[in-house]
Amino acid sequence: KLANIGVVGMAVMGKNLALNIESRGFTVGIYNRTAAKTDEVMKDHSEKKLIPSHTIEEFVDSLEKPRRILMMVKAGKPTDAVIDELLPLLDKGDVLIDGGNTNFHDTMARNARLDKSGINFIGMGVSGGELGALQGPSLMPGGQKEAYDLVAPILEQISAKAPQDGKSCVAYIGPNGAGHYVKMIHNGIEYGDEELIDESYNIMRNVAGFSVDEMAGIFKEWNKGELDSYLIEITADILTRKDDIGDDKSKPIVDMILDRGNNKGTGKWSSEDALDIQVPQSVITEAVYARYISMMKNERVEASKQLPAPKGNVELGEKKVLIEKIRQALFFSKLMSYAQGFEQLRIASDKNDWNLKFGELAQIWRAGCIIRARFLQNITDAFDKKPDLTNLLLDDYFKDIAAKYQESVRDVVALAVKAGVPVPGFSAAITYYDSYRAEVLPANLLQAQRDYFGAHTYERTDREGNFHYPWYEEQ
Ligand code: 6PG
Repeated sequence: KLANIGVVGMAVMGKNLALNIESRGFTVGIYNRTAAKTDEVMKDHSEKKLIPSHTIEEFVDSLEKPRRILMMVKAGKPTDAVIDELLPLLDKGDVLIDGGNTNFHDTMARNARLDKSGINFIGMGVSGGELGALQGPSLMPGGQKEAYDLVAPILEQISAKAPQDGKSCVAYIGPNGAGHYVKMIHNGIEYGDEELIDESYNIMRNVAGFSVDEMAGIFKEWNKGELDSYLIEITADILTRKDDIGDDKSKPIVDMILDRGNNKGTGKWSSEDALDIQVPQSVITEAVYARYISMMKNERVEASKQLPAPKGNVELGEKKVLIEKIRQALFFSKLMSYAQGFEQLRIASDKNDWNLKFGELAQIWRAGCIIRARFLQNITDAFDKKPDLTNLLLDDYFKDIAAKYQESVRDVVALAVKAGVPVPGFSAAITYYDSYRAEVLPANLLQAQRDYFGAHTYERTDREGNFHYPWYEEQ
């Protein structure tokens, strides 16, 4: 019997996806460059419908046609190496899927290259970590539509199901690099969400002086309302956890974890692309910067001895009121971050002719992925009402929340700034709101400056055309 699909790469994501596919009744061919890894999987799962191969030729021969091959290998050179090995063995119409965290530019180039040989190439975003891969991830496949149709029956079965309506968290995203692009924005949004939660924690901790236990309770409470999401849920859980290996096991584990925020680069990619296509994506980008400055631990420790904190005392007001203000500031800022992310998706979609279905993207993020949240339904609803919505802020639900919560975010930002506690995400969010709703910005003066020193010309408010002012003539 031939395998219905093959998986290359038996590291944890590849192995778990293979097991997930097998558990839905499919026979799966598996292959890993180092054969020992394949043997290990077989040893642990000998009773399963897995067909192991030790050579790539054997692997390709073990698959039914048209072949469907899911590559779960490291992004970059290792992915190209596998493609180069497979290519001479494949036939026209076969489907190659790259499920790694690949940069969409690479996916576009590979899709174009393989298309010339008649091989379909799908770049698929996979979210949900190891457990998601095994039990149900959110999947974002992009490439030839015919190729998607060939793998859709499998993808629909293995993906997470939304709690609201049981729908599969997978959809055809669009041609060539669309899937990996959407995954990149997902990761940018993930960075933004994390940063905004971390800022809320920092204010509660270092401005208001709440205990870790208290904060665990607050996040737990928040998770019952409109903030209900995976990241809030795990934050509440994290704050209840005590140290496991230190000398004092009664200490919260967060207090023992070093404040150096690492990254694997996909958040940076979404900021880079925002700069490339000229979309303000300040909340996510501040989240990237927040990680970078956190990494400068030694410099910060030194600076903390030399640079004074503000002197003034802050007025915290009533505790319950403050907690609610922070909650509103967090939700408001989250909305701004998503408004920016979806604006970026819209502009990228136009530029690349991807025809992205924005409501559907929010829909397939409702389960399985790291940013899964109740509020994604509001985004789907907004695009259902108006598919060509330019910015989520112009949707009634968003407008209403922004109007109701804006005073809170202003108060919280002012409080944090006065106390000397950094709130880059919150301030970027309110600044974006104020810039986006500004009929007039000071770019008139900017244009005058550019025209003054560089004759870059300016446009006028009262007539069409480009003008240059005689700055160097006496008036
Ligand atoms: C997911 C995640 C995942 C990502 C990690 C690490 O959707 O499952 O986005 O793909 O690689 O979260 O990201 P950083 O190391 O850059 O924080």
